[in-house]
Amino acid sequence: MRHHWLLLGACGWVLLILMFVTKYINFRAMDGYGERVVSHNWTEFGTRTTRVQRPEKSSYRPAVQPSSAPTGPLQQWQSVIDQRNRLLTSVCQDPVLRNLTHNPVSKFVLDRIFVSDAHKLLFCQTPKVGNTQWKKVFIVLNGAFPSVEEIPENIVHNHEKNGLPRLSSYSPPEITHRLGSYFKFLIVRDPFERLISAFKDKFVLNPRFEPWYKLDIAPAIIRKYRRFHRDPNPQAEAPAEERSAGLKFDDFVRYLGDAEGRHRLDRQFGAHIIHWLSYVELCAPCEIKYDVIGHHETLEQDAPHILRAAGIDGLVTYPHIPPGITKYNRTKVQSYFSGIGKRDARKLYSRYQGDFKLFGYQRPDFILD
Ligand SMILES: *[C@@H]1O[C@H](CO)[C@@H](O)[C@H](O)[C@H]1NC(C)=O
Ligand SMILES: *[C@@H]1O[C@H](CO)[C@@H](O)[C@H](O)[C@H]1NC(C)=O
Ligand SMILES: *[C@@H]1O[C@H](CO)[C@@H](O)[C@H](O)[C@H]1NC(C)=O
Repeated sequence: MRHHWLLLGACGWVLLILMFVTKYINFRAMDGYGERVVSHNWTEFGTRTTRVQRPEKSSYRPAVQPSSAPTGPLQQWQSVIDQRNRLLTSVCQDPVLRNLTHNPVSKFVLDRIFVSDAHKLLFCQTPKVGNTQWKKVFIVLNGAFPSVEEIPENIVHNHEKNGLPRLSSYSPPEITHRLGSYFKFLIVRDPFERLISAFKDKFVLNPRFEPWYKLDIAPAIIRKYRRFHRDPNPQAEAPAEERSAGLKFDDFVRYLGDAEGRHRLDRQFGAHIIHWLSYVELCAPCEIKYDVIGHHETLEQDAPHILRAAGIDGLVTYPHIPPGITKYNRTKVQSYFSGIGKRDARKLYSRYQGDFKLFGYQRPDFILD
């Protein structure tokens, strides 16, 4: 009799250990950082002009179902989406901007793209553009939680627990298949507003307790880019929130605008730079043909449109958008750039010009001229 119990206990232990091991392996595969080296030449996905047609069995559904009224809001919005895609295609072909618009589909880019196999979706993450909310949508779609409201905040950014696979964790043929047939989207916003948001979030407020921004990254940028001789009373004009932080917005702007000089620092900063890399560097929009490019400024229209176009509008809803938060705030941009020299501002613009042009954001003349 006792032997039976011992045997049962042993079996239990073996089972537990097995469970632990498989879970561990799963997490490693999902995170995909550093482990797998994708040696494939990803530029083979081709530019927008050389891409093959979407396969028959794709999950893609046209944004406007036959049942909807021909002049419904979704159809009208599709014309906005089409217009954005046409602009992108033409800017991608502009030889003058080539360096600022083209980027090979590297492992780094594949790391930025989240996958929902169940719904055949790919979403390229562009930090500081409301991506937390889209990640929640994907977490719900992948079945980990029944609704976006029920996902604990700490799970969303925990890539070992949120069950969101990245495209880089698949094999080359699997990646090719997904890029060729899944519904793909990304969200963008005014590039300078995004940089301001990154600065505030990482160097001023730092709400997610990520000490390395203030302790490692800020001092490194200050060492290389601060102009000590300038401005005898630097606290006079800076906004209050900026005064309290070590890194000032003008240090940050000079670092960002230094296209060649910042490479070494960027390597040192590792993956943290995703918060201020360009959309081109993050998502390779001229190489990967995204179906929808949503704009943060019109998220109220874009979010439901994306859910509908992706065929998931019945399964999940986008979290509530507080009124006013998505609007472009010129006053804010103006106030952040008020202490920035034109020369530094123009260098910054030329570094991010690809993003402005590809996505139809106006050149901010009021801070550059
Ligand atoms: C990748 O392939 C393209 C076209 O096939 C080629 O032009 C390019 O030089 C290749 N890049 C690398 C890094 O091999
Ligand atoms: C693109 O970058 C390469 C290498 O960095 C440079 O030689 C070339 O002049 C640039 N082209 C344009 C159009 O800026
Ligand atoms: C725009 O930004 C300014 C300065 O940061 C702020 O005071 C103002 O409330 C913002 N306006 C809106 C509509 O959010």
